[in-house]
Amino acid sequence: MLEPQRDVHLAVWKEIVGQVVSGRVRWVLEEGVEDGEAECLRQGGFLAAGEWVKENRQRLVFRVPGPGAGMFGKINFYQGWRDVLKGTFRNKAKEEFQTTRAFRGEGLPVVEPLAWCRGAGFDMVFTRTFSGSADVTDVVRERGSAAVFRELCELARLLLAHGVSWSDFHIRNILAKPRGAGWELRLVDVYGAKLKARLSRTARRRMVTRFFSGLGEDGGEELFAIIERHLGAPAIPEAEIHAFLAGRAGGEPPR
Ligand SMILES: Nc1ncnc2c1ncn2[C@@H]1O[C@H](COP(=O)(O)OP(=O)(O)O)[C@@H](O)[C@H]1O
Ligand SMILES: [Mg+2]
Repeated sequence: MLEPQRDVHLAVWKEIVGQVVSGRVRWVLEEGVEDGEAECLRQGGFLAAGEWVKENRQRLVFRVPGPGAGMFGKINFYQGWRDVLKGTFRNKAKEEFQTTRAFRGEGLPVVEPLAWCRGAGFDMVFTRTFSGSADVTDVVRERGSAAVFRELCELARLLLAHGVSWSDFHIRNILAKPRGAGWELRLVDVYGAKLKARLSRTARRRMVTRFFSGLGEDGGEELFAIIERHLGAPAIPEAEIHAFLAGRAGGEPPR
């Protein structure tokens, strides 16, 4: 049974559950959402099956084990006059949903959007679970960044090549699933990202250097130069990434 931990959310929880169960929320479902998924959303089955994942003042993230692959949901709470005011102009769930769709439309690797909805004092967004994946943060902690470095560089190149401007581009918003000898990566939580016709070189550099410094890499400028050189190419030559890894301080060997 899904239940928030914070008092401020608990205080409005019954009201939110009531709105969902009685059908007083407005749902927008992605085309191709399976019947079982649609039913679980519209009838509020996710409330009984949902498992708490994380929570802060603004939102609650939860996991729903089924149907099918299962889903992840996020509730944005609009409480207090400031948030309520903001919530009348902004709809975070809708924005996250639409950005996720736009990324998919561009062929960018992102989790699959399922739905969003709006109720009084909250909104919610759902994506399909990327089964068998782990957070890149965990992969890096357990195996070191070299284990997934090539894929991360490639992802950064792809985002820049598509004109993505996103201040929240960091490894906590990337999922990884083993594929062959490497990893398949997918983005989550793309709220706030923008697809631009053109991204300035300064904006590209900022995104890349911030990303790699968050990964604990001090070679951001060097990596930016490598990525820039191959921005229009289908991929960064592996040899260049290996050379970077071999040359960096501490020199973790490439896989
Ligand atoms: N579709 C998904 N498949 C697998 N894991 C997911 C999915 N969506 C979210 N998660 C997990 O939940 C975490 C929190 O979700 P996120 O949307 O990033 O919330 P927040 O906005 O609080 O950062 C992610 O880091 C990831 O571990
Ligand atoms: Mg996140």
